[in-house]
Amino acid sequence: MDTSTIVILDFGSQYTQLIARRIREFNVFSVVLPCTVALARIQALNPLGLILSGGPSSVYDPDAPAADPAILTLGLPILGICYGLQFMTHHLGGKVESAASREYGHAEVEIIRDSPLFRGLSSTLSVWMSHGDHAAELPSGFKLTAQTANATAAIADEARRMWAVQFHPEVAHTPQGTEILRNFVLDLCGAKPEWTPEHFIQSTIARVREQVGTGHAICGLSGGVDSSVAAVLVSKAIGDRLTCIFVDNGVLRKEEFTSVQRTMREQLGLNVVAVDSAARFLAKLAGVTDPEAKRKIIGSEFIAVFDDEAKKIFEAERSAGEEVAWLVQGTLYPDVIESSSVHGPSHTIKSHHNVGGLPADMKLKLIEPLRDLFKDEVRRIGRDLGMPAEIIDRQPFPGPGLAVRILGEVTSERVAILQEADAIVTAEIYAAGLERKLWQSFAVLLPVKSVGVMGDQRTYASTCVLRAVESEDGMTADWAPLPYDLLRRISSRIVSEVRGINRVVYDITSKPPGTIEWE
Ligand code: XMP
Repeated sequence: MDTSTIVILDFGSQYTQLIARRIREFNVFSVVLPCTVALARIQALNPLGLILSGGPSSVYDPDAPAADPAILTLGLPILGICYGLQFMTHHLGGKVESAASREYGHAEVEIIRDSPLFRGLSSTLSVWMSHGDHAAELPSGFKLTAQTANATAAIADEARRMWAVQFHPEVAHTPQGTEILRNFVLDLCGAKPEWTPEHFIQSTIARVREQVGTGHAICGLSGGVDSSVAAVLVSKAIGDRLTCIFVDNGVLRKEEFTSVQRTMREQLGLNVVAVDSAARFLAKLAGVTDPEAKRKIIGSEFIAVFDDEAKKIFEAERSAGEEVAWLVQGTLYPDVIESSSVHGPSHTIKSHHNVGGLPADMKLKLIEPLRDLFKDEVRRIGRDLGMPAEIIDRQPFPGPGLAVRILGEVTSERVAILQEADAIVTAEIYAAGLERKLWQSFAVLLPVKSVGVMGDQRTYASTCVLRAVESEDGMTADWAPLPYDLLRRISSRIVSEVRGINRVVYDITSKPPGTIEWE
């Protein structure tokens, strides 16, 4: 990496990724590494500074995350956060103790000594604390720079360029925290704000071009943001030598198969092989009602279809004297971090498609152009690549598609009913200008029939659920308080326009305890 880099060592805090995001917002590249990483790996990145994250442990726990104490002697500027402060205190000769009163949540901090870390800040800070231990004795050379009514809030050894705060500057609940991080990264580490989308795009294209040379690559497109941005970046590097495979799995939204193809070919100029496998998927799904079984069928069928198509492309290229040697995947940074976290792989790495069935002599090598990026950064890159808003700002859509929104058996008739209802929800949410404000908004088809009346006719038809949620990241979500007139319009349109549905209900369950999807 030819750009300024800050290394964040992860001691297991739930906020570690936030530190990386804040730093990237200053256009400075930052990497999260598990605290147990070898010193050589840190040095290989040639970082301008180190940040030690928070963590759930006490430095005295027998299984406390163990970083090599030599990180403290590299001569780099260091900022310790929460557990990071305690780690520094402990390993530099101070004393960490269990605090008489633990501090969780909001706290007021008074800055008692000038420090460049706090340059430009007011003398009292409102901060977010979350710790049980505190620094009872400071290591030699360190001075107390800020305190709460109860305890140490910040310490510094300006000569050794070491700073540490007991609170969390990376969370939104510490309003001046961004300034603290900015002071550290830009002033104290001297990082240059050069990691811009333009820089990322140019360097990625150049790297892929060099990696792939005159080779060929394939890519599975889902129509979503990640795979599309990955494909566009790679196609900018190698043009038509990238072939994208887009599969109709029978549970896409209304007209999605044709509209995605059109966008990918006409607007993005991608070389797309579209495979209509709807019948094949629906045949496998016949009679299946268990949610996990549906997911597994769709996953394994996708791999089978993808492999078939990849083999065809591979054979065609080979007979033309060319070789497909690369597979493009839209892996994002959170997947990479999670798979190497301090706790070991907490999640199995999400692979968009397992290529287990491909011919052994294909030996595809991976290109993952987005593996350094967070989702919002991918969107920013997509926008800068000139990709249309309908792709960049799309709400998430699950891989198993409408299958996990059709409770009970998935049949072509029930898919068609849900597609119609879902299209109405999407159109109305869009017309109300809420599409981007909501994390997701969609319809769910229940295996529940109820009695109704239309005209003079008694009806007995299915129930549809409207689900609309607000969320930052999909991990937690609130049901959205949609305006009554919008609810009324959606409900009356669905009941009058969609044959097979005579009742619409609104899901007012947050996550947790609910999930966003119904299966
Ligand atoms: P839940 O329902 O667990 O969903 O609250 C959280 C987010 O993940 C999406 N989701 C999936 N995405 N494959 C995917 O690619 C899946 O199997 C899957 N299940 C849920 C969901 O749409 C929401 O954004």
